[in-house]
Amino acid sequence: MFAARRTVNLFQKRAFSASAINASKVSVLGAAGGIGQPLSLLLKLNPRVSELALYDIRGGPGVAADLSHINTHSTVTGYTPDASGLRDCLEGSEIILIPAGVPRKPGMSRDDLFNTNASIVRDLAKAAAEAAPKANILVIANPVNSTVPIVAEVYKARGVYDPKRLFGVTTLDVVRASRFISQVQGTNPAGETVPVVGGHSGVTIVPLLSQSNHSSIAGKARDALVNRIQFGGDEVVKAKDGAGSATLSMAMAGARFAESLLRAAQGEKGVIEPTFVDSPLYKDQGIDFFASRVELGPNGAEKIHSVGEINEYEQGLLDACLADLKKNIKKGVDFVKSNP
Ligand code: NAD
Ligand code: LMR
Repeated sequence: MFAARRTVNLFQKRAFSASAINASKVSVLGAAGGIGQPLSLLLKLNPRVSELALYDIRGGPGVAADLSHINTHSTVTGYTPDASGLRDCLEGSEIILIPAGVPRKPGMSRDDLFNTNASIVRDLAKAAAEAAPKANILVIANPVNSTVPIVAEVYKARGVYDPKRLFGVTTLDVVRASRFISQVQGTNPAGETVPVVGGHSGVTIVPLLSQSNHSSIAGKARDALVNRIQFGGDEVVKAKDGAGSATLSMAMAGARFAESLLRAAQGEKGVIEPTFVDSPLYKDQGIDFFASRVELGPNGAEKIHSVGEINEYEQGLLDACLADLKKNIKKGVDFVKSNP
């Protein structure tokens, strides 16, 4: 009882101490889902968020009513597909998070979600391009390697594409990498950073252990760790046994990425997050999007870092990644071209 009261007081203290910070409207599309609900909760606890706008095809107002009783200063409004609901939700947003879409079941790949999620993301992107073309768009819906190019094509077709404002959220991969390496090494995950580059599915997820605190991991231990990071999503899908994929860890990762963007937008320097963006790094190989460490700023993605020095083993992982990534990106681009 005492511990619970103390936790609330700490939240309140943090909320009020930062309450002088700029007003920021954040919208969540798919807010009543497995990710949407805990993500919206974490955003409600974020003192940098002044207005939280929650849209879903069902259940948005209920989630909003529930969260609106939490005694932090932000307002919370739920929107439905009726009338101008989606437009009203989006208008004035600084950040739009998109966790709308179906999750995997055991035996499925993320690419198996394409047929359902491609049109969901395309239609939400159309609405965002109309109502809030300058917002930062954070795409969570899978397959991220294809849904991000879908958003880009929708924006390009309307002449409002700003590559610095579009992000595929790959934060969960770096969150997992730091946790898994800490379990192997018996260390505190808070002190572990493992850059993860490439994309967000299977072999396109490329952890760079040589750039971690434990660069000497080799052999079977290295292979097992890399495999666990690449297929961490499958571990959760299997454990949930048909009830979906990662939601709580993803909510944490999405909230962390949104917080990083808000910190950078509000003037903090040196905010770096790995994320899947329109990237110059492999364009010469026909690959327009790639996840690497990106420095965030008031205009979105300010500086895209190269993968840096990697070893021969990691080069092998990167080669496999690039081959798959190219196909995934093309699939998203082609989809919008034939289904505008
Ligand atoms: P979920 O089924 O629990 O929730 C999805 C929500 O989207 C539902 O509430 C649904 O009503 C809503 N929705 C569907 N169509 C919509 C539309 N057109 N407009 C607005 N809302 C709509 O699924 P979830 O577990 O929250 O996962 C959502 C997506 O996120 C999946 O595609 C999943 O694969 C993906 N995901 C990505 C990552 C990542 O690291 N990027 C991690 C976990 C899950
Ligand atoms: C994840 O990495 O957990 C997500 O992409 C969901 C999934 O399908 O594995």
